[in-house]
Amino acid sequence: MYNEKVMEHFTNPRNVGEIKDADAVGESGNFKCGDTMTVYLKVKDDVITDIKFKTFGCGAAIACSSVLTEMAKGKTLDEALAITNKDVAEQLGGLPPIKMHCSNLSAEALHDAINKYRQKSLAQQEQSR
Ligand code: FES
Repeated sequence: MYNEKVMEHFTNPRNVGEIKDADAVGESGNFKCGDTMTVYLKVKDDVITDIKFKTFGCGAAIACSSVLTEMAKGKTLDEALAITNKDVAEQLGGLPPIKMHCSNLSAEALHDAINKYRQKSLAQQEQSR
């Protein structure tokens, strides 16, 4: 049911794990199946310099998380925010229609991390005024 690229990312996922001193941590969950993803970011000068993930989910969710980390690394926060679940699925060469919702998990966790990073930066700026 999965294409070769999805299977390759599922069996050999990139950037799995946790960044202990992450600048931001984002989370997402799928209410239907109960799967969850956590994404960890290191950010320097508005660029994602490192990214890792932990996903408790189906094969498609793991493959999406893996390919998402490859897409986001080295991107500016604005560029990374523009990555959609559709982009993630396309990067994998497509997902079976009943698995399209699994790609939401990764894009949402990334967006959550970026939004939290921006909120934190804003709060720090306010404090230093
Ligand atoms: Fe839950 Fe795929 S079935 S994310």
